[in-house]
Amino acid sequence: MWLPAVMDLRLPILCLLIVAESSLGLRNVRVTVPTAIRKGEQANLYCNYEMEDKERLYSIKWYKGKREFYRYTPQEQPSMKVFNTVSGVEVERSLSNESVVVLKSAKASGRFSCEVSADAPSFHTLIVSGDMEVIEPPVDKPSIIGTQTRYRPGDILRANCSSLNSKPAANLTWTINDMQVLLQQTRQYRPIKDESTGLETSILGINVMVSHSHFIKGKLKLKCEASIHQIYHESTERFLEEDRPRILATGSSSGHNPNMFQSSVYDGELTDQGDRYLTMNGYKADKASPPSSSSAGMVVGSYVKVCWITFYICTICTVLLYSLRVGIS
Ligand SMILES: *[C@@H]1O[C@H](CO)[C@@H](O)[C@H](O)[C@H]1NC(C)=O
Ligand SMILES: *[C@@H]1O[C@H](CO)[C@@H](O)[C@H](O)[C@H]1NC(C)=O
Ligand SMILES: *[C@@H]1O[C@H](CO)[C@@H](O)[C@H](O)[C@H]1NC(C)=O
Repeated sequence: MWLPAVMDLRLPILCLLIVAESSLGLRNVRVTVPTAIRKGEQANLYCNYEMEDKERLYSIKWYKGKREFYRYTPQEQPSMKVFNTVSGVEVERSLSNESVVVLKSAKASGRFSCEVSADAPSFHTLIVSGDMEVIEPPVDKPSIIGTQTRYRPGDILRANCSSLNSKPAANLTWTINDMQVLLQQTRQYRPIKDESTGLETSILGINVMVSHSHFIKGKLKLKCEASIHQIYHESTERFLEEDRPRILATGSSSGHNPNMFQSSVYDGELTDQGDRYLTMNGYKADKASPPSSSSAGMVVGSYVKVCWITFYICTICTVLLYSLRVGIS
């Protein structure tokens, strides 16, 4: 413990006076640190407190984790002391004072604590902490991989969005025409960590059956957004075109069961473990629906095709025979 070391001398006095002083003296110590900050940016750490008129400040101490890096003692000369032993902390002396400590460039995440002590006789001491996370945003915008240029209603839109090398891993979301895609239509892969840099790559898959209503003036707007707390927001868009439905194709696509697509998509991904996808009820429901219904859809589809072809052949034959007979007579 580090507190006793600080208070060892004053503890007996504190105990004697605590009854009288506890409701007075020092109170309302507040620490304000940026919860998220870009790596390399200047970080201002504030420590505020209230004190009775008859009390005086003895010292303000700042710690990162358990290690003290800054001490302000107004009665001493010099009143400011900086300890350069804490990694990732470099104090800008000219901008720091009793109420603010300025770090030249944020380097490492951590817990920052401010300890305020009142002067004799109370030596009343309070300590308050705040966490600061140092962010390394990705260099590039998120990228969309795996889309086709054209989709027909009934097709499966399947793609990945990835945001490379950031700390922490970026949060990804998919939108279609600016509407967020349902969770069960996405697949969150585990972030991939580069062990040498500590940076992480996020990947989010999308898996949506395209319908005619997705196309506005023949285009579907697919967007992937990447964000890291309030610090980083970037997005990438793709406009996908609607393929004109062919006459023969309408018969077979109306016979499709949406479950057929979903179960065929999810089956291949079953082997991954610890996946959010697998816990979805949606998956079980899809799995339960008999595959016969989907193959029945295909059989119906091919019957329709056969009927059409037969119909065409018959029509052509009739026309040919008719013209032959007209020619003979
Ligand atoms: C500490 O410095 C900041 C600017 O860096 C200033 O606004 C503030 O008034 C100073 N506080 C004290 C107590 O000197
Ligand atoms: C998406 O990424 C995952 C993991 O890297 C990969 O297994 C999958 O094939 C990708 N899917 C597409 C459509 O690119
Ligand atoms: C990602 O989103 C979750 C939920 O909104 C949030 O709690 C988390 O802090 C976010 N992470 C990042 C790195 O932005």
